[in-house]
Amino acid sequence: MCGIVGIVGRHAAAPLLFEALRRLEYRGYDSSGIATVVDGKLERRRAEGKLANLGDILERLPLAGETGIGHTRWATHGAPTEINAHPHIVGGVAVVHNGIIENFQELRRELIAVGHTFETQTDTEVIPQLVSHYLKADLSPEEAARKALSRLEGAFALALLFAERPDLLIVARKGSPLAIGIGDDEMFIGSDALALAPMTDRIQYLEEGDWAVLRHDGAQVFDAEGEPVERTVHRTALSGAFTGKGNHRHFMEKEIHEQPAVIGDTLRTFANPTNHRIVLPDLPFDPAGISRLSIVACGTAFYAGMVAKYWFEQIARLPVDLDIASEFRYRQPPLDANQAALFISQSGETADTLAAMRHVRKLGRRTLGIVNMAESTLQREADGHVRTLAGPEIGVASTKAFTTQLATLACLALGFAKARGVLGADDEARLSQALDEVPARAAEILQQDAAFERIAQSLTAARDVLYIGRGTAYAIALEGALKLKEISYIHAEGYAAGELKHGPIALIDDQVPVIVVAPPDPLFDKTASNLQEVVARGGKVVLLSDLEGVERLSSYAWASIALPQVDPFVAPILYALPVQLLAYHTAVLKGTDVDQPRNLAKSVTVE
Ligand code: F6R
Repeated sequence: MCGIVGIVGRHAAAPLLFEALRRLEYRGYDSSGIATVVDGKLERRRAEGKLANLGDILERLPLAGETGIGHTRWATHGAPTEINAHPHIVGGVAVVHNGIIENFQELRRELIAVGHTFETQTDTEVIPQLVSHYLKADLSPEEAARKALSRLEGAFALALLFAERPDLLIVARKGSPLAIGIGDDEMFIGSDALALAPMTDRIQYLEEGDWAVLRHDGAQVFDAEGEPVERTVHRTALSGAFTGKGNHRHFMEKEIHEQPAVIGDTLRTFANPTNHRIVLPDLPFDPAGISRLSIVACGTAFYAGMVAKYWFEQIARLPVDLDIASEFRYRQPPLDANQAALFISQSGETADTLAAMRHVRKLGRRTLGIVNMAESTLQREADGHVRTLAGPEIGVASTKAFTTQLATLACLALGFAKARGVLGADDEARLSQALDEVPARAAEILQQDAAFERIAQSLTAARDVLYIGRGTAYAIALEGALKLKEISYIHAEGYAAGELKHGPIALIDDQVPVIVVAPPDPLFDKTASNLQEVVARGGKVVLLSDLEGVERLSSYAWASIALPQVDPFVAPILYALPVQLLAYHTAVLKGTDVDQPRNLAKSVTVE
């Protein structure tokens, strides 16, 4: 992952680089660093841990210089120590890098054989080693960079800074995103345009294989063959203002509480609340003309896709293949001639999801991205896209992005069903009305916050927690388990309730809380039987259902929460909130870093 920034500037670079890194911290927060050119030398400050640690160092030891580079790291090769933190400097060349150099062992051996010594365990260090090697052979920085780039295999976005050239930055993109920002006699680079938003709104996106030479007055871009190319300059609409936490303790809490509003905003782009009709946006394929749909995503976005599989199959009668992106891209599944593919991603930058999308495009099938981040690679490269209107999601654990993905997918399922002639006007009106009610029902659930906090108190001591559900609630069980493990570090698993007796039930004893996600749908009675099987083995059941469900089953449960009565169609959107709140309060009570849990990053740009 990692975030990179760079400036060929006319003002003190370090404060600007630091501010840009704050905006990129979602990409990694293991360590960070900044290097600038000062009087013909490279000066550097680096810190292990969160970006705030680098901030403290910069306050004590400010960094001069108007040209520089910065990095926030998510470790791939080498522990997240200060020595492994970027920028890496070798012989007057500094580099920041996002991605993985796959042939680094080979290059390292080659360079050691000719006398180079390495000081880090990173794959990145081979880059400045190679460039300085070529500089010593009297190549210019441009020639040395070009020659070094041609030796690198893998995925990368990188920026090179040279001690003797305060007027120069060389950058390259292969597999990882990179944006160039154009200022007034100043140039900027960043992993995304958001990082550059306070400095400029004029952005060029490098394309696959591009590299560029930046000087104060502009960027000269070359394609993979070394031919000069022009890349369009966009005016970005991304705001320079950085969102705060408001009155909330954490971004995650704020984002959970924003859900009624952002689900409402997202629904309004499809659903007309006055006549209860769904209007599809422009799509890159005709939903009536496709035979199958592939849905591909990672993590929480994958679970949104899993709910959508039930919706598209049941409501639109459209067969769906559901895949985790990292499996799909190498499985190379045969696709029907009329198969389209849908990719779901909050960031729009997830490496595996992008690779899967590019694979499908290469096969000549149409691709649709469901994406939250405007101007992201998925939005730009898919044949078409639909934006979820969650707004910036800063907490690493996805919450409002998930429920707005669900809201979007629910509308698409209804729109597809209409287009395919399998949804009558009455059903359309009933289901669309159920969607209209979601924001208000979500607000009611949030008012029960204290009840979730009480239950969370007894989850903190658990070693393992199980989540079970059937149908779309199975996907919510999986999402609930993911949320709990990623922010509270408690081991948790989600299971299809009917699958429990095929193995996982052996885990149950009186120490294991089992969260039963049981909305009032046609599968309720089946889930109720599975709940009884858990109780019979001493499991501590936490029941999530509506009032009727709770009245029927609460005497067996150790704790239960009655959620608003809703149409089963929209239940997965609403039942996502309780599992988010349970995870959030458990993590807060355990004292973990809720917004930036260990080992994770918001945007996963490596495979
Ligand atoms: C979990 C979480 C991750 C992401 C996954 C995909 O809370 O946030 O599992 O859902 O990394 O990320 P995007 O949606 O950006 O492709």
